[in-house]
Amino acid sequence: MRRVLPLLLIAVGAAWTTLAACAGSARWWGAAGPLLALTALGVRDLVQRPDALLRAYPLTGRLPFVSRRRDDGRPGAAGEFLVSSLAPAEPAEEPPVVRVGGPDCRLPYDMALLNVSAMSFGALSPRAVLALNRGAALGRFAQDTGEGGLTEHHLRGGGDLVWEIGTGYFGCRTGEGRFDAREFADKAALPEVRCVSLKLSQGAAPGGGALLPGVKVSASVARERKVPVGEPVVSPPGHREFSTPRELVLFLAWLRELAGGKPTGVKLCVGSRREFLAVCRAMVAEGVAPDFVVVDGSEGGSGAAPPYAGEVGLPLTEGLITVHNALVGVGLRDRVRIGASGGVATGADVVRRLAQGADYTNAARAMMRAVGCVGTGRCHTNTCPVGVATQDPRRMRALDVDDKARRVHAYQRETVRDAVRIMASMGVRGPAGLTPAHLVRRTGPGTVRSCAELYEWLEPGALLSGPPESWAADWKAADPDGFS
Ligand SMILES: Cc1cc2nc3c(=O)[nH]c(=O)nc-3n(C[C@H](O)[C@H](O)[C@H](O)COP(=O)(O)O)c2cc1C
Repeated sequence: MRRVLPLLLIAVGAAWTTLAACAGSARWWGAAGPLLALTALGVRDLVQRPDALLRAYPLTGRLPFVSRRRDDGRPGAAGEFLVSSLAPAEPAEEPPVVRVGGPDCRLPYDMALLNVSAMSFGALSPRAVLALNRGAALGRFAQDTGEGGLTEHHLRGGGDLVWEIGTGYFGCRTGEGRFDAREFADKAALPEVRCVSLKLSQGAAPGGGALLPGVKVSASVARERKVPVGEPVVSPPGHREFSTPRELVLFLAWLRELAGGKPTGVKLCVGSRREFLAVCRAMVAEGVAPDFVVVDGSEGGSGAAPPYAGEVGLPLTEGLITVHNALVGVGLRDRVRIGASGGVATGADVVRRLAQGADYTNAARAMMRAVGCVGTGRCHTNTCPVGVATQDPRRMRALDVDDKARRVHAYQRETVRDAVRIMASMGVRGPAGLTPAHLVRRTGPGTVRSCAELYEWLEPGALLSGPPESWAADWKAADPDGFS
């Protein structure tokens, strides 16, 4: 009610002054005219669908102090350039996809170049989850469920899903908060579930677990997560089902079997290179590899980020290059796909990450903007004015699912199209043609150097056959039976 109060007052003023003018005192038209015009504008704001902020705040949503908050949150890439070619290629007609699924996978999945990154029901409203899912169905890309469970809202739109399992095991959780294999297998068998992702950590809070504030734990969220209504949900910082790199890769292999051979991978924000090398050693020792690794940069977002967000863990560039090199170094890069998330929003962002070693990308905050997020930074308060990050039924009404699903689809399609056009302007027809030499950085006045020169790139199998000096100490210390 408070949100439409200014419009109501203006409408009452318009009615009153119009009556006064009609009653014979023509000078009232001077006030009635502008008030009538404002009323008409406010009603238009209220009934239109594309702009959720104006729908929720007719008239006042136009004020500069409200709209100024519409920041796009995108970290800039100042000083980094993609290398264009004097021999451009023809852009590919079909959007490229990358096949995810190594030799132990029985149901490989063709992943789009840009997908919806993990965001839970709970952090997002049911309408936002559904709009993302319908958008994914329209554009044939994937939506990651986030760690809050595989819910009815993820299954209503017909979109492809990556089911994320976090440390709380929501959606496949025993009464004691442990992993429930039977529930997992039953849900993983659903045709909408195309891949399974085991979340080890995320960039906004690596090693910190996740928090859903009590104010957002509605009856429906509580039911999906099997937790009490209104109490904060804290996912533990680490997993209880494994405690060493070897146990981790064996757990992944088990998940893949339980999921009927669907592609199974991990999501992590890299901290120490040695730890990731320990996981690679375990893969080699057990002959088991994930089908994909999603690398999240420390610049990543969250529904309720701790104050140290961005200060802990490797930024995406360093994390991505570390994971790519480690997998190349142990000779597993050709069977493990790499996804990248952290500030991906444009076609150029996608191409930049592909050039640095990723096979595909995921976006969270850019997809939130596509469903109407205006960046007020109130995700943790349940007062999101545009219905994206709230469980308040009145507030979520502002989000029109069909309209936002079309926007999500259009955003993904145009971003991938841009990526394809950019690759063509660089003389390559698809992601396979990109190398670190295609990305250059200004390193001083008048000097640029490519990522191929700025970073070290390992030869296939180099870690197994004799690591270069710069990797030798970490490789030697990496222990498949201990993370530290
Ligand atoms: C509202 C919100 C909720 C999120 N929830 C999860 C989650 O449940 N699991 C997860 O792995 N990451 C989660 N993330 C992190 C994103 O999936 C992504 O890794 C990170 O935000 C970086 O991508 P971006 O820069 O495109 O936002 C969440 C992010 C946001 C903004």
